[in-house]
Amino acid sequence: MSLLSTHKLKKIFNGVSAVNGVSLSFEPGKITSVIGPNGCGKTTMINLITGMMPFDDGNITIGEHTKIDNMPAYDVATYGITRTFQQPRLFEQMTVLDNILVVLTERNVFKSLFERHDKYHIDIAEKILRRVDIFEKKDNLAVNLSYGQRKLLEIARVIAMGERTDGESHILFFDEPFAGLFPEMVKLVSSILKELRDEGKAVVLVEHNMDLIRELSDHVYVLDAGEHLAEGTAKDVFSNRGVIEAYLGD
Ligand SMILES: Nc1ncnc2c1ncn2[C@@H]1O[C@H](COP(=O)(O)OP(=O)(O)OP(=O)(O)O)[C@@H](O)[C@H]1O
Ligand SMILES: [Mg+2]
Repeated sequence: MSLLSTHKLKKIFNGVSAVNGVSLSFEPGKITSVIGPNGCGKTTMINLITGMMPFDDGNITIGEHTKIDNMPAYDVATYGITRTFQQPRLFEQMTVLDNILVVLTERNVFKSLFERHDKYHIDIAEKILRRVDIFEKKDNLAVNLSYGQRKLLEIARVIAMGERTDGESHILFFDEPFAGLFPEMVKLVSSILKELRDEGKAVVLVEHNMDLIRELSDHVYVLDAGEHLAEGTAKDVFSNRGVIEAYLGD
């Protein structure tokens, strides 16, 4: 059963459809990839699903019964829906550890800076930082991290968001988490995505690297110019003529 599905979702920017009636479905315990040429609407889909921007038509179903037409991002989080950004959005002047604590404890940034955190939350935050291998950077300000470390911290924040709504089902969107990473970081992020999948999360991956799509995806959707072009296993879609023309021939 799908954890979340979109039904004919539509988004128009200045008269042009960025997303034109797209229906996708995401299942727990699976990595579902969304691929397609630059500008085909992948990030916009994530923005619509995570409530970052309103959609113009269609709807989203969460679980079996909850049907939503539009809702703000802070409501979306209560359903256990969370995401990374193509360009990491961190609290630059906070430490790496505080970037996680502020997510875990749902405190506002100001309080988080001036109140002491309890050991329980610090332990969880440190465990997450170890998992993404940036524990030794925990006292550094986010602004001082390298590009790859920023992406790892962004992933750590998504994992922390998941811990916060513990026990609920989760859907995690990763918008190009591998872009610009060194090979050893690519390996690390791949194994984190697989672990999250094996924990039963619905993992959604937007990625341009076809080898990674092949390695990681249980199901692949291909978008082209805002429309659903194809779906299936990686093998299916990569042998689809329309996909080869639209995407690989790009
Ligand atoms: N906030 C916005 N205002 C106006 N147009 C937008 C906005 N966001 C996206 N678009 C347009 O919508 C289309 C889809 O963009 P989107 O960012 O979703 O593509 P994408 O598939 O994520 O591309 P990429 O692979 O380059 O990240 C593009 O034509 C883009 O210019
Ligand atoms: Mg994008």
